[in-house]
Amino acid sequence: MKVGWLEVTVATLFLTLVLGAVWTRGRNWLDPEFWKRYAIIGSAIMFIALIILTFDTLAKTKIGSDRVPSPTVINYKIDYKYDPEKGYFKPVIGPEKELLFGKEYSEEEAMELIVKGKLVIQSRACMDCHTLLGNGAYYAPDLTKAWLDPKWEKVMIAATQSKTKEEAMVKFLMHPDKYATWTRRMPNLDIDEEEAKAVVAYLKWMAAINTNGFPDHFGESKLVKF
Ligand code: HEC
Repeated sequence: MKVGWLEVTVATLFLTLVLGAVWTRGRNWLDPEFWKRYAIIGSAIMFIALIILTFDTLAKTKIGSDRVPSPTVINYKIDYKYDPEKGYFKPVIGPEKELLFGKEYSEEEAMELIVKGKLVIQSRACMDCHTLLGNGAYYAPDLTKAWLDPKWEKVMIAATQSKTKEEAMVKFLMHPDKYATWTRRMPNLDIDEEEAKAVVAYLKWMAAINTNGFPDHFGESKLVKF
């Protein structure tokens, strides 16, 4: 049986009612002790459910789980397709390869690069303006699916005179002031080429995470008019 939020809610409420009924047996419902016991039982069961759900979430958000792919995903083509059954857009990984910077990364190399990208992002406090997986500020676009933004292929490859999408992203990250595409500007954050490449790898990996379709309506960019 697949256990979803509905099953968990029904089970916790059911347990609270049954165990509460056992513990308050023979007591009048106007007796304050009756309500105290129900409150204790309810809180204890919710506490246990929250602990179980926390471990369940940790397992589901771990690298290599169903939704969060292994770092070697950066060696593959990542597509974003509407899943009519789920009702949201879902990343589709591969099967064909699409090497990043023309290189096939091993598991360790890919992990090292992604971790470096994360450290660069933390060191420049990108979240002061952007959101990643919904966390951060709302001044600039969400970066969760930035890798999949059609603007790289439609505008930025030509604008930065690059051959590939990743090269265009590196150039933008190193000189966002030079390749502005919006009324709000991203400042030059003094990112060198190695750092920019690591950030691009991080963003490609992040784009492959199944986020239940977040951010909504992605691909109909309102920032850029093509
Ligand atoms: C002071 C605010 C600010 C900070 C800090 C900032 N950005 Fe930006 N960023 C912006 C704005 C504004 C845009 C839109 C600019 C444009 O399109 O010309 C943008 C655009 C982008 C884009 C293009 C997104 C898309 O899909 O169109 C990427 C990628 C990006 N930023 C990455 C980063 C990274 C990585 C960092 C940290 C190293 C960072 N930004 C820090 C303001 C910021």
